[in-house]
Amino acid sequence: MDKFEIEGGVVLNGSVEASGSKNASLPILFASILSAKKIILERVPQLKDIQTSIELIKGLGAEISKESNNRYSICAERLQSIEAPYDLVRTMRASILLLAPILAREGKARVSLPGGCSIGSRPVDIHLKALEQMGVKIEIASGYVNASVEGKIKGADIGFRFPSVGATEQIIMAGTLAEGETTIRNAAREPEIVDLANFLNSLGAKIEGAGSDCIKIKGVSSLEGGSYSIMFDRIEAGTILLAGAITGGKVRVEKIVPNDLLEFLSEAKKSGVKVIEGNDWIEFEGKGSSTVSITTAPHPGFATDLQAQMMSFLCEVPGTSTIVENIFENRFMHVPELVRLGADISISGSTAQIRGKNNTFSGATVMATDLRASAALVLAGLVAKGTTSVRRIYHLDRGYESLEAKISLLGGKISRQRE
Ligand code: EPZ
Repeated sequence: MDKFEIEGGVVLNGSVEASGSKNASLPILFASILSAKKIILERVPQLKDIQTSIELIKGLGAEISKESNNRYSICAERLQSIEAPYDLVRTMRASILLLAPILAREGKARVSLPGGCSIGSRPVDIHLKALEQMGVKIEIASGYVNASVEGKIKGADIGFRFPSVGATEQIIMAGTLAEGETTIRNAAREPEIVDLANFLNSLGAKIEGAGSDCIKIKGVSSLEGGSYSIMFDRIEAGTILLAGAITGGKVRVEKIVPNDLLEFLSEAKKSGVKVIEGNDWIEFEGKGSSTVSITTAPHPGFATDLQAQMMSFLCEVPGTSTIVENIFENRFMHVPELVRLGADISISGSTAQIRGKNNTFSGATVMATDLRASAALVLAGLVAKGTTSVRRIYHLDRGYESLEAKISLLGGKISRQRE
């Protein structure tokens, strides 16, 4: 396993470009098999989760080849399998999103239940209940979801009890080739959902309202081929901007639409960071100076995927800040590790109280526990006195494309080593 060795205390300065979005790439890769024609995807980030998705798609019998570092061609003319096996699904729970595309093409699907992960139990009840409303028969047996539908999936008027991102993507895909019209009420509004809808519409789908809480999909008989460039990764961008701000530097991330991070930028401004917004770039300058109170929420609220990174940043802001994590039940795994680095954080239920001060962190060996927690530990290491060793960074490799190269480009002292 690999670890990062980080020399703290270096001020980061400069500009980097964001990579393609992990959370847009995954649903778009799976949605590609809704078409039987050739599809070219640009800006697919090189990530562990992308490799897992490619193995899953290959396992179904689709042809997929890597044309360059970030470009793939996919052709699902015929599928030879309807199964997404446990040994792949258990490493990436987003695999549950394969249910609808396989069903839409083959009329049946067998996808392993994803199981929980370190940040929560991650149920899929909203996905399954909605699919049943679309005429899909669902049976759970031996840890698999066995789904089947007589003829085509049927369009339906569906109301979500919670605006689940994955369930919204699942039902957009289920509705794309369905009979009739599907409406999703209380839909998630994340920008990655808009990207999925834009991708499918570029192939001939008829999806309206993505980005709002009411999405309408008119089923079509088939999709064309085509090529599509995936949106940039707003969570990676937020992470790198905080890497600059925590060290007191001036860092710009190119190719990011400020509108996709409005609540995050608003809280950064409240904390005293100088935020400059361009059309397709964002710049942070200087450390925070004022405490803030943050609550994570579905988009356009504060993104839960930036919560851990924000917590590291607030550990270096004098005074008591609070973070309420409303989306996942166990997304404070980074707290004990930050405390090992010198943070003063107490948790009560879903609320973390961060008693920040200048020079909070001192280098130590810490353990990554999940994707965004590992990013939070890297940020702390960048400003800690001395050396910080972040172990098990395979968690980080799931969601960040060459993070250490980007941090080094900004002047940070970080290297990848064998544990
Ligand atoms: C997506 O996960 C993202 N993953 C997550 O990013 C992100 O944190 C999350 O959306 C929220 O923004 C991808 O896009 C691949 P949800 P997803 O369904 O779809 C509960 C990262 O770090 N829920 O909106 O799983 C669920 O347990 C990852 O990049 C149900 O109860 O998120 C959770 O508490 C982590 N039943 C909440 O809703 C369901 O059927 C949000 O889940 C579905 C979800």
